[in-house]
Amino acid sequence: MSLKRKILELQKKREKVLKGGGDKAIEKQVAMGKMTARERIVTLLDENSFHEYDLFVEHEARDFDMDKKVLHGDGVIIGTGTIYGAPICVYAQDFTVAGGSLGLMHARKIGKIMDHAMKMRVPLIGINDSGGARIQEGVNSLAGYGEIFYRNTVASGVIPQISVILGPCAGGAVYSPALTDFVFVVDKISKMFITGPGVIKTVLGEEITMEELGGAKVHSEQTGNAHFYAESEVECFNQIKKLVSFIPWNNNQKAKPMEPKEPRTDEYPISEIVPGNPKEPYDIRDVIRAVNDDSDFFEIQERWAKNVVIGFGRINGDTVGFVGNQPLILAGVLDVDSSDKAARFIRFCNAFNIPLVTFVDLPGYLPGVDQEHAGVIRHGAKVLYAYSEATVPKITFILRKAYGGGYIAMNSRHLNADFVFAWPGAEIAVMGPEGAANIIFRREIQNADDPEKVRKQKIKEYKQKFANPYVAAAKGYVDSVIEPQETRKLLTHALEVSKNKVDKRPNKKHGIPPF
Ligand code: HXC
Repeated sequence: MSLKRKILELQKKREKVLKGGGDKAIEKQVAMGKMTARERIVTLLDENSFHEYDLFVEHEARDFDMDKKVLHGDGVIIGTGTIYGAPICVYAQDFTVAGGSLGLMHARKIGKIMDHAMKMRVPLIGINDSGGARIQEGVNSLAGYGEIFYRNTVASGVIPQISVILGPCAGGAVYSPALTDFVFVVDKISKMFITGPGVIKTVLGEEITMEELGGAKVHSEQTGNAHFYAESEVECFNQIKKLVSFIPWNNNQKAKPMEPKEPRTDEYPISEIVPGNPKEPYDIRDVIRAVNDDSDFFEIQERWAKNVVIGFGRINGDTVGFVGNQPLILAGVLDVDSSDKAARFIRFCNAFNIPLVTFVDLPGYLPGVDQEHAGVIRHGAKVLYAYSEATVPKITFILRKAYGGGYIAMNSRHLNADFVFAWPGAEIAVMGPEGAANIIFRREIQNADDPEKVRKQKIKEYKQKFANPYVAAAKGYVDSVIEPQETRKLLTHALEVSKNKVDKRPNKKHGIPPF
């Protein structure tokens, strides 16, 4: 056969395989409001940058009539491409081929691209749309999952791993996304659960729809399993691209710097955001925007545990990770969920050389039987652990309240912060003046002719003595008390002088964080 004919043969073969499960299955996919796996990859990556591998892989299953079935690409597409020029390894499960179910060869393909991402030290993006373990392939499918989980774990903290849930992701299959750094979901398309509605009905007699059990809203608002929520696949891909622009390719690099831009100070006048009255709420994101390049704050887990705010921004062109208490929600307390949220983000930033900037305004950890019984001790400890463990530049601004354990946990000097600045309205104390006066002057208040007058007087006394930044500044716990409008200048300077920071810790296999 001439080379020309061989090329024609290749083209024909390709054409056939590129159709995945065929026209009917593609029609069904489109009718469900979903893109095909290949469309997803093309939309996500830079134009013409995708190169596919293992297109001609076929399954080897023989039981249950599988020997009569052809499953193109074995239901998954793998390859490499770029996002804003950054190299990416990607896989996308093809639901049109046997429901994107995971058999031996399907798993091998995913393993291959994961290994490639690790060897090349580039981010991995996995698009999940699958009925789970291919039932006909039995233990081989289970083995496949195990090998993916193992690779997710080994790659953790070495390359960024992103999971996109664009269809069902059921049973043990959910654990690969759960082991990765960022999970993206799309309204009415993503469905994630360990046991589906059918099993729940059989075992517990409870009725629930897939959407109510594990839809996009559930995972972005209630469980915290998802980091980004989108209304459409296109919006989701734009979110992924933006995320990729903020993070480095691997743990030996820094995120690519961008052109520095000034914040939009007309929109976010920093001196006017935080009310003087410590009980009055405000949106901490406005403070972040007020200091951030172009006031462009890319929030993560925006819909869950909203009492803490996390996300990326840039200072003078360089990526930083922001953590801030949110006085709009529960006065910005730390609780079980917000501790988990903050701690995981801090660990991501530390693993990937992203400096941490913390804005503090909280009355402490949330009191209550529910919180105690939900393990606020263990969850809260994660924040202490994550900040203490972090060796990237760590800069703190105490804006207003910094009480008790909350003060310590939010990247205080005592956890080895590099710079701690306080605004003049900062109150650094064991607890709020009201609570403190009621405890330490209880007897005096009780025995007074006018207890209310004495109580007010004692609160004032306590406020004057402790509810300010100067006691901490006098001990050197706060480096400098600054005016709000000096925040960006000092932040820029602190980041500049921290560029070559060295913080060596004792050698160990790994720590044992309070998971
Ligand atoms: C083999 C599967 C499959 C599977 C779907 N298909 N899931 N084939 N193994 N797990 C096939 C269907 O037979 C069908 O093939 C095609 O994919 C499309 O599926 P439909 O059912 O027609 O699609 P839809 O109505 O949209 O329903 C999607 C679904 C449903 C909800 C995902 O297919 C489903 O419930 N599948 C089984 C889910 C499941 O129990 N998986 C195992 C989980 S346990 P044809 O040829 O008709 O087009 C697990 C353990 C992992 O994953 C453990 C790791 C540690």
